[in-house]
Amino acid sequence: MTIWTPIDDGYADLSNHDSFLAGPPENTFKRLRDHEPLSWTAFAGGAGFWNLVRHGDVFSHNRDFRGLTSARGIRMEDQTEEEYLARRTFQETDPPEHTKVRMRVAKAFSKPVIAGFETRIRELCDEILDVALAKPELDAAHEIARQLPMRLLGQIIGVPNEDLDWLVSKGDELIANTDPEYTEHVLDKADTEAFRLMPFRSPAGAELYQYAEDLITSKREAGEDTGVLGMILEPDEDGNVMPKHEFQNFFCLLVAAGNDTTRYSISASLHALANKPELHEQLYAGDDALWETAPDELIRWASPTRYFRRTATRDLTLHGKTIREGDKVLLWFVSGNRDERMFENPYAIDLRRHPNRHVAFGQGGPHVCLGMWLAKLEIRLLLQEFVKRVARVEQNGEHEYLRGNFVGGIKRLPVRVALR
Ligand code: HEM
Repeated sequence: MTIWTPIDDGYADLSNHDSFLAGPPENTFKRLRDHEPLSWTAFAGGAGFWNLVRHGDVFSHNRDFRGLTSARGIRMEDQTEEEYLARRTFQETDPPEHTKVRMRVAKAFSKPVIAGFETRIRELCDEILDVALAKPELDAAHEIARQLPMRLLGQIIGVPNEDLDWLVSKGDELIANTDPEYTEHVLDKADTEAFRLMPFRSPAGAELYQYAEDLITSKREAGEDTGVLGMILEPDEDGNVMPKHEFQNFFCLLVAAGNDTTRYSISASLHALANKPELHEQLYAGDDALWETAPDELIRWASPTRYFRRTATRDLTLHGKTIREGDKVLLWFVSGNRDERMFENPYAIDLRRHPNRHVAFGQGGPHVCLGMWLAKLEIRLLLQEFVKRVARVEQNGEHEYLRGNFVGGIKRLPVRVALR
């Protein structure tokens, strides 16, 4: 097997954020898939956890929300009941409670509503590339990948342009709370006790709360279109409006979820183009069929959401071992996406891969990504505009990964470009 991560000897500690500093520890996941499909990891930061690493297991157990609940936290870190109640969004609930909220917000992110943003997204891609490609050498992760998702989300929810940079950095602080480059309050290194009731245990959560509230109030006062946020705050069939606290948490979830996952999918795509010119050529010559399959394959490749956690609500015996009620179970999407049992040549990028049953969006479960149509459209349009303008792109320095085992990808990607 190809050694993708040189610091990984096949026995990386999955609980340690440093194990992901050179990308996901692929050798470890491969060994686990082949020899230990259900494994236990001791965790210095709290109770240990189980790992599900095969595609089939990740997919089928993600569906089992009765046996594996989202309602006790979705990251490996433990939460008290008080913290959970204060910080949770509908992502940390199970059906039927989850379904009610999801139905309320699903329309705003449905395929047809998102398709309506195509022209706006293309314009935004143009603006970003005009600036970024004005120089022959650039950091493609920072100057291209980091720019699109948050600016777009800002437009969709009606954030004024001048606030977009602030929003991008708050999004980083909120979710990239394990990387000292993005926050002073590194989760496993600093004392974050004072922020324990805030989303992601980060003070950025409080600032975002306030921002969301001010934004919607000022729009309402000015009689402006409240867009997607307004849609979300519409009363449901029974006349119930989303409670204030839940709305604030939902806003934080959008900032976090919409920001870095798409960014790291774009940076992984640009990294692939910079190192495999044949992919660039294929995209440039791409027909509609290729553009239909390519975004999913590049997202499978990037797998920016490394895992999501569940908690067992009853004992479960699997692969000869027993998961006890109350144990934490991690669904490693990143490993499922490299499983030879599901994918032919999983370590190769096949832009025409079809079918492509990747699990990067949490497919199979009730929480399957709400932003998936938006993410796929963003990636397609950005890459279409990129290959239209750029004849050749090559990496001209070391790339760097975010420090973190939850959501991650390439945060620095120095490249040299030659325009057409
Ligand atoms: C390539 C980009 C993306 C990836 C790989 C991704 C991945 C995921 C995954 C794996 C989940 C499931 C979590 C779970 O099972 O508990 C999820 C849920 C979610 N995602 Fe995404 N996401 C992406 C982009 C976005 C975007 C652009 C948005 C919004 C603007 C978004 C909003 C959400 C929301 C709100 C949920 C929670 C849904 C629920 O609990 O029902 N995501 N995403």
